[in-house]
Amino acid sequence: MDLKTIEWKNNRIKIIDQTRLPHRLEYIYIDNIKDLRKAIRTLSVRGAPALGAAAGLGVYLGIKGFKGKERSAFNRRVKDVAYYLASARPTARNLSWGIERVCNVALMNRHLNIDALKLLMLKESLNVINNDIEASRSIGRYGASLIKDKDVILTICNAGILATVDYGTALGMLYRAKEEGKSFRVYVSETRPLLQGARLTAWELKKKGIEATVICDNTAASLFKDNKVNKVISGADRIALNGDTANKIGTYNLAILSKYHNIPFYVAAPLSTFDSSLTGGDGILIEERNPQEVTTLLFKRSVAPFGVKVFNPAFDVTRHELISAIITDKGIIMPPYGKNIRKHYVNKRSG
Ligand code: MRU
Repeated sequence: MDLKTIEWKNNRIKIIDQTRLPHRLEYIYIDNIKDLRKAIRTLSVRGAPALGAAAGLGVYLGIKGFKGKERSAFNRRVKDVAYYLASARPTARNLSWGIERVCNVALMNRHLNIDALKLLMLKESLNVINNDIEASRSIGRYGASLIKDKDVILTICNAGILATVDYGTALGMLYRAKEEGKSFRVYVSETRPLLQGARLTAWELKKKGIEATVICDNTAASLFKDNKVNKVISGADRIALNGDTANKIGTYNLAILSKYHNIPFYVAAPLSTFDSSLTGGDGILIEERNPQEVTTLLFKRSVAPFGVKVFNPAFDVTRHELISAIITDKGIIMPPYGKNIRKHYVNKRSG
């Protein structure tokens, strides 16, 4: 299956419209930042690394039509575009990371004229894409060493092809393990309210020929009690320097359940998901989303009384004590995370 979630084609961003899956594989072509912001807000493109890759290209879309000659005006445009895109979804670190990478090109090359800068910024946004392709493969290689024959693995949300440019983090580990000839099964937590597990992960795994069973989110505890799962793997949206990890709402529940039942709980993420400004997870800003995601079934059918109050955080934070290991593109980080993340982060971070 050779799918690309994001591509740069004929001066436009081509993305898979993930709101149409699993029943329709359709693409959206985006040539302006307003449409890109909308695609990000509505989860047509989603998943931390995919957001970083799309937003890097978005910065270029936002500045490519700039006509002035004054450098200060150009810098202002870069800043405005960066803020406009980064504020679309605040929790995923990769989103602001992709934007910063492209904006930094403007900051670091003050001697260049604006046309030359624009080209360099496009080049950097394509580098972000290529780096993500490599990072996923690398996570897959490191992570596959943890997967054994006959494993039964539970995953949440979608940390696969659709959450990256083309291979995945948590699911990348599974794809690599399968390529190595290992045989295992996967439980997919449906992931209320927008069902990224049932709609996207189940679709990907099926296409890859991996045996997948979808469960309601609240089924995990009884599966664990009955010894039906021996590993849990999730992706991450932002990781603090002590290992505290924000990921899709419900991930924390699974981590607590895993600890109680003595099941290893792994997090897979590229170093671009780490936030060096945060010493712990309390500082992670959690996005709250539209109440209708909860009160309706995918905006189609109402399932709650009109006007009822809703609390709909998109992510939660799993404390580092609950995480058995973090699989990154530069290697597997084991506890104590406070010491080991800094070592990895400082020594090995690329880009
Ligand atoms: O709201 P979403 O679908 O963007 O949430 C995505 C997740 O929580 C993923 O697990 C995370 O971004 C990691 S993707 C490799």
